[in-house]
Amino acid sequence: MTSVTVTTKTSADLPVDALVVGSVRTPDGADLAAGHGLPRKAVVHLQAVLADLEATGKAEEVHRVVAVPGVKATSVVVTGLGEGTTRRTAFEHTVLREAAASALRSVRGKKAVGVALPTPDAESLSAVADGAFAGCYVYDKAAPLPARKGRPAATPVTGPKIVVVSGLGQGKAAKDAVARAGVLGAARDWARDLVNMPPNLLYPQSFADAVKKRAAESSAKITVSVLDEKALVKGGFGGITGVGQGSSNPPRIVTMSWSPSNAKGSVALVGKGITFDTGGLNLKPSTGMVTMKCDMAGAAAVAATVLAAAETGVPVAVTGYLCLAENMPSGTAQRPSDVVVMRNGTSVEILDTDAEGRMVLGDGICLAAEKTPDWIVDIATLTGAQMIALGDDTAGVMGNDDAFRAKVVAAADAAGEGAWPMPLPAALRAKLDTPTADIAHKGDRAGGMLTAAKFLEEFVPEGMTWAHVDIAGPAFNEKGPKGRNPKGGTGFGVSTLLGLVEGHATRA
Ligand code: BES
Ligand code: MN
Ligand code: ZN
Repeated sequence: MTSVTVTTKTSADLPVDALVVGSVRTPDGADLAAGHGLPRKAVVHLQAVLADLEATGKAEEVHRVVAVPGVKATSVVVTGLGEGTTRRTAFEHTVLREAAASALRSVRGKKAVGVALPTPDAESLSAVADGAFAGCYVYDKAAPLPARKGRPAATPVTGPKIVVVSGLGQGKAAKDAVARAGVLGAARDWARDLVNMPPNLLYPQSFADAVKKRAAESSAKITVSVLDEKALVKGGFGGITGVGQGSSNPPRIVTMSWSPSNAKGSVALVGKGITFDTGGLNLKPSTGMVTMKCDMAGAAAVAATVLAAAETGVPVAVTGYLCLAENMPSGTAQRPSDVVVMRNGTSVEILDTDAEGRMVLGDGICLAAEKTPDWIVDIATLTGAQMIALGDDTAGVMGNDDAFRAKVVAAADAAGEGAWPMPLPAALRAKLDTPTADIAHKGDRAGGMLTAAKFLEEFVPEGMTWAHVDIAGPAFNEKGPKGRNPKGGTGFGVSTLLGLVEGHATRA
């Protein structure tokens, strides 16, 4: 597995396969960015090569140069940081993160990689370590497949050992920041793996098993409990039961807890875990169905956040609720116009079986609320409307408390994940009126992201702080690698939620 550490050693002497340095865009073309620590002859050589390559130093531009004089590494990878001078040390964290990710992506097969980018403070160092780790991700396509007779087992994909070179390296803050980036990176890679896993292999029970296995392997004490389909019926979870009833892979709610003895409060995370969303009887067209293995990305982000919070030892009790179901059409499937009763007793009229996420989350929110946490955040690939409103890379954040919603957005900003606050106008509630039940689960197309959130709000008890994060776009990258993200599952939300939980520990 990929790992990341920090050193104050001289970059040129590192026994690595590749050494990453930065380049900046100057009026005279590309030049090396501060922080490289290379001897004069290496700098002169690299400057000549960059000039010959007509390098510009712009962001996401990566050049690899082999056999650089005075450098022990086999190659030097020059990654663009954009506008700057050779003296500039302060760069935007997003720029550092993405430059490190692009660089590491270009040398993914290597065993050891040094990174010598400008890190004037612990935050910059964090961004570099985070981006470097994130850029190494590869989905191990052979790993989840059963072994085949007569064929040699594929060698497992292993990431490199990353060594970040920084003058801050001796300090505790720097070491902690890099250690955190390593835990976060591994957790996010787990979330990406879960999302990328084919849906015939990842279904509610196998997802629950994967969580149990990962928790058991962890150095931290994480407890996992599972409600199976019988327990869900018995417990009155009509929302998730209804969604799951059309599938031969029955639903589960997995509860994952980190409860340290020094906890300064308790929080709940609820994740949408539709392991495949066909739409149910309101079947999706094939163009809309093809990516729907990603519909469990919220649950994956929650599972990975609980893992990361536990492994970094955040002094807050964190409980994750993974609402796992497969949305299938069949003779036992839910019908549009069915009425179900949720965990809190609210009756709901199903108008469209493709609006299934809010049904599983409603029950999950009720369950989370029963433990009276300080707040609840749910995260979900909930609506296509999120992508219409905010595009592929920016999550929508809604909630019943503007100050808390702002905290969630701020945590996303600090994590380098795109998020934007969206309103929950009271008037939207009328769209959910129906004569047949307490509430209908959808309104019309207009403001579809907001009405979905308005529906969820029904399951949050009066006075409890709650936010909802719609990640339909950012959870899954259909195009090529970009910034920190590979193609496919991005692990979006893990970094934001970990930051949010850490913020709760240090709140005033
Ligand atoms: N899982 C989808 C939302 C989605 C769409 C996620 C595209 C990621 C990419 C969700 O269950 C869904 O189908 N939502 C419907 C709701 C509608 C029927 C009210 C939608 O957005 O069209
Ligand atoms: Mn759906
Ligand atoms: Zn869905």
